[in-house]
Amino acid sequence: MSLPTTLARVERLLRPLLHRLPPHVATHLFSKGRSVYTAMLANDVPADRPVAVPPITVWGMNLRTPLWNAAGMFKKGEGYAMVAAQGAGMWLAGTTTSRPRAGNTKKGIRWPAVPYPASGAAHNWMGLPNEGHAVVAERIARLDRRSDCAVGISVSAEPGLEETVALHELADGMRRYIDAGVDYIEMNESCPNVPGHAGGPVLDDGLVRRLEYVMQHVLHGAARRVPVVVKFSNDTAIDQVDDLVATLVHMGYDGIVLGNTSTRYSAIEPQIAASERRTFRAFTEQYGGGVSGRPLKVWSLALCAAAAQAARKHASNKEFHVVRCGGIESMADVEASAAIGVQLNQWYTGYFTGVGKYGHDVYARVLG
Ligand SMILES: Cc1cc2nc3c(=O)[nH]c(=O)nc-3n(C[C@H](O)[C@H](O)[C@H](O)COP(=O)(O)O)c2cc1C
Repeated sequence: MSLPTTLARVERLLRPLLHRLPPHVATHLFSKGRSVYTAMLANDVPADRPVAVPPITVWGMNLRTPLWNAAGMFKKGEGYAMVAAQGAGMWLAGTTTSRPRAGNTKKGIRWPAVPYPASGAAHNWMGLPNEGHAVVAERIARLDRRSDCAVGISVSAEPGLEETVALHELADGMRRYIDAGVDYIEMNESCPNVPGHAGGPVLDDGLVRRLEYVMQHVLHGAARRVPVVVKFSNDTAIDQVDDLVATLVHMGYDGIVLGNTSTRYSAIEPQIAASERRTFRAFTEQYGGGVSGRPLKVWSLALCAAAAQAARKHASNKEFHVVRCGGIESMADVEASAAIGVQLNQWYTGYFTGVGKYGHDVYARVLG
């Protein structure tokens, strides 16, 4: 067992004790440890792990499995060789923005985050820290790639910029990634931790202008055509899904991801174990932030079912895929997605729980 996977197992055993500490101390400890640990894990490339599920072909790409990491795990573009060897069907870097961002710091805690292990959930208020499109695109261009693990990037328009500048820089960043050789681009329209992104209502004028701009300058204007999908919140109102999918299909987008973290704190709180509620309330009060993991499972399934139905209704002759993200932690979840016609899945919170249990066998064991 390598040092990072041993640490993950030890940390898994210690995690429940975290919530006996004062919430501020628990958040401080975890937030500091999280960044150091993720960097170590990303560099710990294991021997190739066999996976039992058959490969799939989507958008003309061969994916070893129908599951890969959600955005925000490898913000700097690290970890490709590690997840490819574990058995991920894709590796998703970012989210990046056009200009480097420091992310959120409050009360001496940089990038506040805390896990709720007894609830299968987590909470973060990171604020999209990243090094910018140009730096990460250069890193991606130098990757030693394999044919069964696609390379994806998550991008966002720079929050707080004047709109024409933000749009120009967004499209420029997407084209840089296309030149760097990415196979897939995800537009993040749903980070609850920066101003300008939102849970909903989503189909506002600003979004439509961004989609039109990217359609003209990237879908139709780039040197190479790469699938571009748009990620919305798991807090999206279900009655908006049909309009969203119709708009994306009509404009020539390639898919939708549902979705990002939730800020429906009062609906989530009853799903947080009693032993973790004090930290949950304190984090919500102090930072707000987005909740991930098991509480999102039912919502992501319902939203994806609506999106899959809408995709069939508005189908064009182009491939359009729904990607489920939110609360995926087991083969049963991947099967539940398949049962509603959704082939593709991403995970974040469940992945780290899995690494704590199974180390680098996480894909092999969860999909086995
Ligand atoms: C620490 C952390 C950082 C995240 N950063 C991003 C991000 O940069 N971009 C993004 O689109 N989503 C980000 N997310 C959201 C995840 O990609 C995913 O949508 C969410 O966690 C729900 O999936 P899960 O239930 O499997 O964790 C982040 C989530 C966590 C926990």
